[in-house]
Amino acid sequence: MGKNKLAKFAEMAHFRNVFQPSFEEMTEEGFPLKGMWKDRFFLNDHPIVAEFGCGKGEYAVTLAERFPMKNFIGVDIKGARMYTGARQALVNNLHNVAFVRTKIENCVHLFSPGEISEIWLTFPDPQMKNSRKRLTSTRFLDIYSSFLQPGGIIHLKTDSAFLFAYTSRLVQLNHFSVLAQTSDLYASEIPDETLSIRTFYEKQWLERGIPIKYLAFAPGCWVPLIEPGEEFEKDPYRSFGRSARN
Ligand SMILES: C[S@@+](CC[C@H](N)C(=O)[O-])C[C@H]1O[C@@H](n2cnc3c(N)ncnc32)[C@H](O)[C@@H]1O
Repeated sequence: MGKNKLAKFAEMAHFRNVFQPSFEEMTEEGFPLKGMWKDRFFLNDHPIVAEFGCGKGEYAVTLAERFPMKNFIGVDIKGARMYTGARQALVNNLHNVAFVRTKIENCVHLFSPGEISEIWLTFPDPQMKNSRKRLTSTRFLDIYSSFLQPGGIIHLKTDSAFLFAYTSRLVQLNHFSVLAQTSDLYASEIPDETLSIRTFYEKQWLERGIPIKYLAFAPGCWVPLIEPGEEFEKDPYRSFGRSARN
């Protein structure tokens, strides 16, 4: 591990807006903010929006700046990336944003039923070979169902035509409500000041001329969830842009 990373980890250990619970702390002791985020951390009754696979947390931090009447939580397993957003939130004195360094799979231990009102999935790896790791698969939707409030919204922003086609089909199969859907966000009428926030990965895909896709949907009824059975055309480009960069 690089010295720079170690220094970031050491500094981040003292950030008031970052939580790095061990698996045992979440499962055996119980995460103390589960069901209590508003009462014990945000100290308000505003809705909570999660960004999963937040990387440097561009969405969590920028939305927190723009929407002071909402709270935001970025979740990612990569601490060195999260450091950037967490530090920016501290420097800018933002009290409505927090970060948790853990696997998204562990979020069932972080949030209570109905505690999250919206989920952002910003440029997740499409995981073309392994649907179980795909953040819009039925496996992950089952996880989200344990804490997303009824009528809650899931936003997917992606470069990947594969992930967009797969998720669109999943949404259709499961009769979820589609709130917005475009295979070329910036050529559509849709972009607004929220949708045009550009993450670290998004900038790389735009530089490569890849159109950005956006899908917003509300699951409504969750069970039984149906996984698409068909094959989807794989993305033709290599995913070097997704390799680990801090
Ligand atoms: C391609 S990057 C996108 C980062 C950021 N959203 C952006 O647009 O710049 C995907 C991120 O998801 C995180 N990630 C993927 N699967 C995860 C999981 N199961 N649990 C936690 N983080 C995960 C990775 O660590 C990585 O930071």
